[in-house]
Amino acid sequence: MSNNRKEIDPYDYIEYFKRNTGLMVSMDKNGKPNVMALDWKTIEEFQGNIVIRAQVAYTRYTYECLTEGVNEFSVNIPSDKIYDAIDIAGSYSGRNVDKFKKAGIQTIPGINIKVPTIKDSLLSYECQIIHSSKSNMSSHHYFYGIIVIAFASNKLIK
Ligand SMILES: Cc1cc2nc3c(=O)[nH]c(=O)nc-3n(C[C@H](O)[C@H](O)[C@H](O)COP(=O)(O)O)c2cc1C
Repeated sequence: MSNNRKEIDPYDYIEYFKRNTGLMVSMDKNGKPNVMALDWKTIEEFQGNIVIRAQVAYTRYTYECLTEGVNEFSVNIPSDKIYDAIDIAGSYSGRNVDKFKKAGIQTIPGINIKVPTIKDSLLSYECQIIHSSKSNMSSHHYFYGIIVIAFASNKLIK
C-alpha cells in the first residue's frame, strides 16, 4: 500500500499504542484540520464496536472541533522523524496557530473519513464518533470513535 503503511486490525500493536503519546487530528466546521497531543486514550469495546476513547479537556480547541465541527478524528502515533511535533501540538492552540505548518507535519487524506491522518506515523486510526460523555474528571470529556480503519507503518511491521 502507498505511504509505506499497511492496514492492520485495531488491536494489533496495542501495547505500542498504549505506551506512546498520540497526535489527535480533528476538523473545524470550515473543514480546517487541527492537531493536539493526546496521552489519555484507550482502545476498547463499546456497544459492540472497537473504539478509541479519548479524553479531551473542554478548554481545548480540539473539543470545539469535535463538538461543533466534523464528527470524526484520527489518532496517530508519531515516528522519531516527527517526534518533536508532540511538543508543538501539545503546547500551542489551533485557535491561533497552524500547528501542522509550525511542526512540519504532513498529512494523508482520510481513506474513510474527512479528517486526515499524519504522514510519518507508526500507527494511524481513522475514527467516527458514536458517543461522548462527561469523564470522571470534571475538566474533561470522553469521545468514543469507532475505528473504521487502522494502519501500521512498514517500519513497525518489519
Ligand atoms: C504529552 C502531552 C499529552 C497530552 N495529552 C492530553 C490529553 O490526553 N487530553 C487533553 O485534553 N490534553 C492533552 N494535552 C494537552 C493538549 O495537547 C494541549 O493543551 C494543546 O495545546 C491543545 O491544543 P488545541 O487547543 O489546538 O486543541 C497533552 C499535552 C502534552 C504535551
